[in-house]
Amino acid sequence: MIPVTKPYMPAVQDFELYVHNIWERQWLTNNGPLVNELELELKKYLSLDHLLFVSNGTIALQLAIKALGLEGEIITTPFSFVATSSSIVWQNCKPVYVDIDAETFNIDPRKIEEAITPATSAIIATHVYGNPCDIDAIQQIAERYKLKVIYDGAHAFGTTYKNKSVFEYGDISTVSFHATKLYHTVEGGAVFTKDPELLRKMASMRNFGHSAPDEFAGLGINGKNCEFHAAMGLCNLRKVDEILDKRRLLSFYYWKTLATLRATYPKLNADLDYNYAYFPVLFESEDLMQKCLKALENEKIYCKRYFFPALSTLEFLAPAAMPVCEDIASRILCLPLYHSLTSSDLDLITRIILRVQTYDSAPVEATALADQTKAQLV
Ligand SMILES: Cc1ncc(COP(=O)(O)O)c(C=O)c1O
Repeated sequence: MIPVTKPYMPAVQDFELYVHNIWERQWLTNNGPLVNELELELKKYLSLDHLLFVSNGTIALQLAIKALGLEGEIITTPFSFVATSSSIVWQNCKPVYVDIDAETFNIDPRKIEEAITPATSAIIATHVYGNPCDIDAIQQIAERYKLKVIYDGAHAFGTTYKNKSVFEYGDISTVSFHATKLYHTVEGGAVFTKDPELLRKMASMRNFGHSAPDEFAGLGINGKNCEFHAAMGLCNLRKVDEILDKRRLLSFYYWKTLATLRATYPKLNADLDYNYAYFPVLFESEDLMQKCLKALENEKIYCKRYFFPALSTLEFLAPAAMPVCEDIASRILCLPLYHSLTSSDLDLITRIILRVQTYDSAPVEATALADQTKAQLV
């Protein structure tokens, strides 16, 4: 069986060492020493001054929206994981969708201005698959209309834009450290901002609104993370460069072996050092994608339609027609990509896909004949 993703597992002895110390200290959560150590190490790794380790990427988005005091309408992308939009609705704001760029799959900045109304308070954009949005264009629009910007960087750990961590940008950036992400803490996430006052606000909000043990600065929630997750984060951080290298190699191998596939791939931002977070394939047609998906599943190889469906089609959000996004969502498939994926796994995956394409374009009799031959082989 080949799943679409597998979590990176550090050496168990490394994790056990941390667990042993947690047992000794009996300090499990509430801003423990490992949470502090992880925050320091992450700041060093990312060359950033401010960040907070929180319980997950969804809470990170909710803290960001709350800390910026956003109200009314928030312009966002329909091509993202549901948490990007549901966090907006959860905070009693209205998502206003703007269609995506057909080449990058990120929100199309050329369409943002026409969606701005007097009720617009912010733009929340996702760096889809870790590929940065058009940050400069979004920043210019935000400044012109006095809007706040939040980047959902759930996929973007390890990506740099203009030689800086992509989390430098926007009023607040967020990330997910969920087990499916290339760098993970089992469950977890972080918020990033350059504004120390915003950071203080989110630190208090993350801890029920406390400003001191017996004092409250305002409304808060439980967005803390714990020592065990921080231990996993510390173990994995030592391996993250190796993880990034392996993903780059696997991705290039995919591109090379799939060179004749009738498909395209997201256009990467020019000022980028990419993290190869996913391997999305935009098939020429939904039909070809579905046939490949099915053929792979028959061989117990599992891919993911990611993102599908377009968020703008969900009744409980804010339904709207987003033709570019709907088209891309209908044809896209993320292929398996994880640290322990081997070149022979990859050969098998790509062989199946290319075989489907060959028989798909062959006349019906030829396909039937091929099926017959295959049936005789098994
Ligand atoms: C784009 C995006 N935003 C937000 C999230 C939510 O992160 P978490 O699962 O850590 O809550 C995810 C998770 O996959 C995501 O892909």
